[in-house]
Amino acid sequence: MIPRTRCGDFRPQHIGSEVRLCGWVQTNRDHGGVVFLDVRDRFGVVQVVAHPDTPEAHRLGHRLRQQDVIEVVGTVLARSEETVNPKMDTGAVEVKISRLTLLNRAETPPFPIEDDCPTGEQHRLEYRYLDLRRPVMQQALALRHRVSHAARQYMDSQGFLEIDTPILNKSTPEGARDYLVPSRIYPGSFYALPQSPQIFKQLLMVAGMDRYYQIARCFRDEDLRADRQPEFTQVDLEMSFVTQDEVMACAEGLIAAMFEAGCGAKVDAPFARITYAEAMEKYGLDAPDVRFGMEHVDISDLMREVEFKVFREPAEKGGLVKVMRVADGAGKLTRKQIDDLTAFVAVYGAKGLAWIKVNDADDVPGGLQSPIVKFLPEATLRKLLDRCGAGNGDLLFFGAGDRKVVNDALGHLRVKLGHDLGLIKPGDNRFVWVVDFPMFEWSAEEKRLQALHHPFTAPAAEDLDKLERAPLEVLSQAYDLVWNGTEIGGGSIRIHDPKVQQRVFAALGISDDEAEAKFGFLVNALQYGAPPHGGLAFGLDRVVALMRGAESIRDVIAFPKTQRAADLMCASPSEVGDRQWQELGLRKRRNLAVNKEQS
Ligand code: AMO
Ligand code: AMP
Repeated sequence: MIPRTRCGDFRPQHIGSEVRLCGWVQTNRDHGGVVFLDVRDRFGVVQVVAHPDTPEAHRLGHRLRQQDVIEVVGTVLARSEETVNPKMDTGAVEVKISRLTLLNRAETPPFPIEDDCPTGEQHRLEYRYLDLRRPVMQQALALRHRVSHAARQYMDSQGFLEIDTPILNKSTPEGARDYLVPSRIYPGSFYALPQSPQIFKQLLMVAGMDRYYQIARCFRDEDLRADRQPEFTQVDLEMSFVTQDEVMACAEGLIAAMFEAGCGAKVDAPFARITYAEAMEKYGLDAPDVRFGMEHVDISDLMREVEFKVFREPAEKGGLVKVMRVADGAGKLTRKQIDDLTAFVAVYGAKGLAWIKVNDADDVPGGLQSPIVKFLPEATLRKLLDRCGAGNGDLLFFGAGDRKVVNDALGHLRVKLGHDLGLIKPGDNRFVWVVDFPMFEWSAEEKRLQALHHPFTAPAAEDLDKLERAPLEVLSQAYDLVWNGTEIGGGSIRIHDPKVQQRVFAALGISDDEAEAKFGFLVNALQYGAPPHGGLAFGLDRVVALMRGAESIRDVIAFPKTQRAADLMCASPSEVGDRQWQELGLRKRRNLAVNKEQS
């Protein structure tokens, strides 16, 4: 049999050869009794032609419908000059059919199998196998393959062992809710699906594996967004006897390899670094987009002296007052546009969005247009303009109140304006490390400290003595990598001293008994010669989505879940039979509301 040529591979050098190709009928046209078919496979499209001089093929060709699966045997011919299609890679040639076989019929697909498919995502997810037949989706998965392949090659070149860790695990707290799997053999007991391989990779370091990596599936039952899925993939690594700088350098090499495979370009390493404190101060977010300026300026000190209560109170009572200067003709924004931005920040809890339009910076207060200028003394206004470098035509936005609310509101406003005002150069890629995270944050909801990263992260050596005394001041040896404002990875140097681990559990309000029950095996392991170690994990889906410029990570996952964590194609989650309930020792609650996603 003639070997198969892939549809996208036909070129003028094949002219005259006998070939065989297989694929899906994309279009079927009849021109003066000659049937022209575009046939597509993952590698491209080629035109094949059935002439009346091969009557059987000609007859069948007429009957073929879109997405029928066919095999063609024929001869490659040059297209006549006027029919050459420069837009197609294979556009200089066509295949004259000598034998045409229908391998399988296709029903009319529920939506066009084309790149610019007008159908909504819900419908496409229901028929994901047809959605994935569209070239854009095939390209997305091919890119994902190249990126993970490059990751494997890089890790291998650096002496890492690829080691699988279990999927049926014990519940560990990493911030999100666990997915639980009931045990049949131990009724009433559950496995948890891993939120990450964190504890196992640390145990592998105790085991002397030195360098571990895994392209690991992780599961988190959390509120979903465009950049979060309930199951997602990490490029996860851990190293022994390393400093923070060494882990970061290795991670930069890994990102460079993935970026080169995915984008065909080199990245500029080493990447810039910014402390968590500086990121919060200038950008209001711990994943700053540093492709444009518009940095925040803290004016809490200036506002302590004013009468205007909206600003004075937070300034006096440990809150925050910040201003963000928007240049680039922002002074021309209309009242309606400012109202829309006020509604935008309200989503983050902001109670308002005060503003000043700087018409003439030299004329204070006459040259300032604003609902709040009348509340601020002239001297304060001058200091304010000076501090944020305001010039004519600028618009100043203010946030006042609770620190978190102000940072969140002005942080997201900055990103929105950066996009809306076109401040981001196309093709600009900025990677930045965020370092020196605090160990803990206060959870008002749970009324206790929570780990900002995870409870196995090492405190900064110089802050160890503050663990009990001033835990909120303790910095950690954690680092996140941010690409164009998206957190793509994070990691830390870990605690290898069991005593320090116990002190951190205590700071987190985890009792000795609870620590023993939940992580006794880890603390135990640390007692048997645990090497100093650290590592990190990248979110593969996020990295690939950014490379594709995809709006959602769903676009780079073959079979993703919806925002409501459902698989519309398989209709999962689904109910199970009474027998399964019984075998698992579970009983249904009466009146259990069945809350199925509407499709
Ligand atoms: P972390 O929880 O920061 O760290 O996760 C690492 C990276 O995984 C990606 N990620 C996600 N991607 C898609 N959907 C999600 N729901 C989701 N959650 C996280 C992000 C994130 O930066 N064990 C530690 C790593 C370590 O310390 O070595 C961990 O899991 O890109
Ligand atoms: P008010 O005194 O409530 O009319 O507010 C005067 C101006 O301050 C309006 O432009 C409000 O949008 C703005 N404002 C009110 N509360 C805040 C706040 N917490 N942060 C920033 N601006 C605010």
